[in-house]
Amino acid sequence: MAELEQIEAEARTRISEAESLGALETLRVEYLGKQGSVSALLKTLGKMSPEERQEKAPKIQGLRQAVAGALADRKQAMEAAELEARLAAETLDLSLPEPAEPKGSVHPVSQVMDELAEIFADLGFAVATGPEIEDDWYNFTALNMPESHPARAMHDTFYFPDQAPKGGRMLLRTHTSPVQVRTMMAEGAPVRIIAPGRVYRSDSDATHTPMFHQIEGLVIDRDIHLGHLKWTLETFLKAFFERDDIVLRLRPSYFPFTEPSVEVDVGYSVEKGRRVVGGSGDAPGHAWMEVLGSGMVNRRVIEMSGLDPDEWQGFAFGTGVDRLAMLKYGMDDLRAFFDGDVRWMAHYGFSAFDQPTLSAGVGASA
Ligand code: DAH
Repeated sequence: MAELEQIEAEARTRISEAESLGALETLRVEYLGKQGSVSALLKTLGKMSPEERQEKAPKIQGLRQAVAGALADRKQAMEAAELEARLAAETLDLSLPEPAEPKGSVHPVSQVMDELAEIFADLGFAVATGPEIEDDWYNFTALNMPESHPARAMHDTFYFPDQAPKGGRMLLRTHTSPVQVRTMMAEGAPVRIIAPGRVYRSDSDATHTPMFHQIEGLVIDRDIHLGHLKWTLETFLKAFFERDDIVLRLRPSYFPFTEPSVEVDVGYSVEKGRRVVGGSGDAPGHAWMEVLGSGMVNRRVIEMSGLDPDEWQGFAFGTGVDRLAMLKYGMDDLRAFFDGDVRWMAHYGFSAFDQPTLSAGVGASA
């Protein structure tokens, strides 16, 4: 029986020295597993005489319980130590100084898009979106530019090899105007939306990047006329540039998706080498600058979007968000918008707390 005591002593030592739960499990298997040494001793009971068994059984059972108990105690101690260590490591030191000033900033394009959404929300416009990977039909055909239309050539389109479900090939949308069609088809009339987003053209210099941003506007209702268009654009531009002396000039133009079409100019002057919007372009020291394309939505577009053009009319407009940002905040190279240079962002970016609101002035603390 001295043998049992020796086994127990040895087991206790090894268990107390085990360094991990894995090592403990190996020991458990070694002693108490099916092939374990203590289990083997238990199996010898069956072959003993009743007298011998009566004497040895309690001792072998005692050994088994002692080993099992030692294993359980050690395991509990290890788990407690681990929890202790985690609690010690995860404490929050409230005496530490506050974190450094946040360095991130809001890109001027995002800021201007938020400003536009705020201004147009106040005029009752909802924000609509559409896919950047677009079907030829929505980007061109439904906007009254069938396959042979010369205006298509002006768009320097990036095409995919894939056939589009509605005809032609898939492409990266060249303007936000397809959102007009998608919105009319999905929601019917009346419509009052703006659609800001990314657009793509194969073009690159100081004033053109292959990806840029536009915002589209669409109003469809009964008895809408050019007067509504002019008032809306004037109200929008006054709110955006935060000046009452904004003067618009509407010039007859041509877009396939509007009839009649007008290009909208604003008067500006140059102060300290920067264009400053305001005043009539005909005033001394002033000139006109084109800022928007617009017009009354072409009947054919309304028809292709599933509405009856005898019942529903409307106006649309489109403009470049990046250009609006440059004009308002004074950047001169469009390419820098998309370089991701942190110094440029630190200079031109906005604080996340700078939420544009009409009451505070959209772009108040720029
Ligand atoms: N889609 C035109 C472009 O990218 C801009 C435009 C002009 C949009 C006139 C309009 C519009 O909605 O009426 O050049």
